[in-house]
Amino acid sequence: MRVLVIGSGAREHALLLALSKDPAVTALACAPGNAGTAALAETYGVDLADPNAVAALAKEWDAGLVVIGPEVPLVAGAADPVRAVGIPVFGPSKEAARIEGSKAFAKDVMQAADVPTARSEIVDTPARLDAALHRFGPTWVVKDDGLAAGKGVVVTKDYDVARAHAMHLLDGGHPVLLESFLDGPEASLFCVVDGTTVVPLLPAQDFKRVGDNDAGPNTGGMGAYSPLPWAPSGLVDDVVARIVQPVVDELAARDTPFSGLLYCGLALTSDGPQVIEFNCRFGDPETQVVLALLRTPIAGLFLAAAEGRLASHPPLEWEDGAAVTVVIAAEGYPGRPRTGDVITGAELDGVLHAGTRRRDDGAVVSAGGRVLSVVGTGPSLAEARLAAYRLVERVELTGSHHRSDIALKAVDGDVHIP
Ligand code: AMP
Ligand code: GLY
Repeated sequence: MRVLVIGSGAREHALLLALSKDPAVTALACAPGNAGTAALAETYGVDLADPNAVAALAKEWDAGLVVIGPEVPLVAGAADPVRAVGIPVFGPSKEAARIEGSKAFAKDVMQAADVPTARSEIVDTPARLDAALHRFGPTWVVKDDGLAAGKGVVVTKDYDVARAHAMHLLDGGHPVLLESFLDGPEASLFCVVDGTTVVPLLPAQDFKRVGDNDAGPNTGGMGAYSPLPWAPSGLVDDVVARIVQPVVDELAARDTPFSGLLYCGLALTSDGPQVIEFNCRFGDPETQVVLALLRTPIAGLFLAAAEGRLASHPPLEWEDGAAVTVVIAAEGYPGRPRTGDVITGAELDGVLHAGTRRRDDGAVVSAGGRVLSVVGTGPSLAEARLAAYRLVERVELTGSHHRSDIALKAVDGDVHIP
């Protein structure tokens, strides 16, 4: 099987690594890729925002399967023209990708499916803002009602900070979504879906804030671990039964079946799991840890999803133990990152690339905010964590920063559901 992966992050590097281990895979390509993915796959340029360009590349390269990683091409509708030329694709249609592309659509689907989630209200004019803010908080949750790469959300106990963020969004012409605050630890559950059947992967936890102890602004994600030693037994089955399957059924009933990876972002509250968000694709950096533990050949799983055959796919097999990833970010991230610095250790096993590129002289240099995602595995979460941080020590990038507390509370038995 010839597999084309669309995207250029550490998620795509992890996808390619998993695909390269599937004996059914005969050739791999990645577009636009990075310095790390180029070691595993042929590299092509593509405009991620142009669905027809993705389809043209898939056809030209004679792909047998296309895997679309990021939300931007999916929300733009890249899966549709690929399917239209007869190539199986792992990724939802433009219509189904609205579960991530429009938070208002996601809320509507959740309401129809009777799925537990935060109470919400959309504000599209400053005149209505103050009255609306008074119906929420403290704590306030203020979101951009569109794609914002995890950075459009402010969670704050400070009314003025909440108001200023909402005004900033409104001034930029973006409707604002206010939500009730969901207390409790967060978990990400990825489900492979073929329109009807749901196959959950292992749950993971992401670290969204830039600094240790969750200080500072939200980012795309600074680290992750899997599985969750603190999760109640039955969590995954419960979330599939009460949340994921009803949403998949609702989307199918609306004639917009979801085929691809449905990412369920949860808060585990005292009232049970509640949805923070759905995404229409694998999460980054959780994918790096979940796929590090998956033993089942992944190209076969993706093709079964693309072809609507998940009901007859054999049960997934997992490695024992745990995986931890630590993101190494460039100076300035999540603001404007410093780029162009030479990276030492980028070629080490377990170092996945995100914002990297190979310079003409062959050196690997930083080229984005999240630069590397360093993965450690081990028989226990504590050992996986040590392995990840030992590897971080072997990487050098001027000005870079990373969190030092990824998976620490879980190792210490200090994660509690309220
Ligand atoms: P989102 O872009 O919707 O995933 O939000 C980014 C992050 O903000 C989430 O991972 C949570 O940490 C936090 N967040 C979003 N919505 C809520 C909420 N209703 N209650 C508590 N935290 C939230
Ligand atoms: N890790 C969060 C996301 O991928 O949206």
